[in-house]
Amino acid sequence: MKLPEHVTICEVGTRDGFQIELEFIPTDQKIETVNLLARAGLPRIEVTSFVSPKAIPQLRDAAEVMAAITRRPGTTYSALVPNDKGAVRAVDARVDEIHTVVSASESHNLANVNMTIAESLGKLAATAEVAHRAGKPMYSGISCTFGCPFEGDVPLPQLESVVRRLVGMGAAGIGLADTTGMANPVQVQRVIEHLAPRFPGVEWTLHTHDTRAMAIPNILAAMELGVTHIDASIGGLGGCPFAPGASGNVCTEDLVHCLSAMGIQTGIDLDALIQASERVQAIVGRALPGQIVKAGKWTRKYPLPDGVAARIPAR
Ligand code: COA
Ligand code: ZN
Repeated sequence: MKLPEHVTICEVGTRDGFQIELEFIPTDQKIETVNLLARAGLPRIEVTSFVSPKAIPQLRDAAEVMAAITRRPGTTYSALVPNDKGAVRAVDARVDEIHTVVSASESHNLANVNMTIAESLGKLAATAEVAHRAGKPMYSGISCTFGCPFEGDVPLPQLESVVRRLVGMGAAGIGLADTTGMANPVQVQRVIEHLAPRFPGVEWTLHTHDTRAMAIPNILAAMELGVTHIDASIGGLGGCPFAPGASGNVCTEDLVHCLSAMGIQTGIDLDALIQASERVQAIVGRALPGQIVKAGKWTRKYPLPDGVAARIPAR
């Protein structure tokens, strides 16, 4: 495989993950989680979202969380917004970057943000103005890039036209989001091979959900085509409350483990990340899907069973 030497991971667990938890995660525990992730060396953290508190009551404390986190030099802190109202709130909360959301599928966009794609793009044009005036880069994620749980296939020309509008608004990067884990590696490469030459200079991010155990294969497929920005979620938290069947993102520590086993740099301290994941499991009060927390790293060795050592032939 031909893979890049360095990958930049954006942690989305405290947004994509905490938004779907049934129990409201107390504000101080959200802050603690963000700080643990920053201390583990995460270069980018999507801390929260500035959306309607009626739509996502779990993140109604977004401003308090942003105000109380410890800003680590070297970590970029962002928040997700669906409209310019959210962007104004995010700028007031001193985000470093604004992340936006729109879906490539009409049905999912209506279910998620109660707007048609065209209405959303109108709001995002206003969002881009807010970001531009505040001097904040805008990164735009596109939900259901690889398929929609209501409509099935999303035609590539439809996806391309959403990308074109967002790039036209000045988006610094585009996130290709597999919201309900429908993508496969061949499809991921087909979509990137279609889009990348048409939009030179755009920074592409792959946002995966591991709903069907294809997240890491999909990420490797994107990396082979030069994608070096990947979203991931501590412990494998996550899911869209408005997309049936959505489950967790690719698990950050599993992804970092996989990349580090292959010698690919992320700048993240895997041991600190595993500890952060253990703490997040305690916070949410259940075991999370991540495998490395259970299995340990591939370098882990076990003591031999009794009597075996003496019988190993000398070399
Ligand atoms: N932050 C806070 N409040 C907001 C807001 C924002 N970004 N955008 C709108 N609101 C408020 C409005 O002021 C209004 O308040 P009021 O009832 O007190 O007057 C209320 O929310 C409804 O606003 P409206 O513009 O009519 O929106 P809506 O009810 O059609 O909802 C969204 C549209 C986009 C605001 C809402 O669907 C939403 O926030 N969705 C987010 C979904 C999400 O985060 N999904 C998971 C991540 S992909
Ligand atoms: Zn997601």
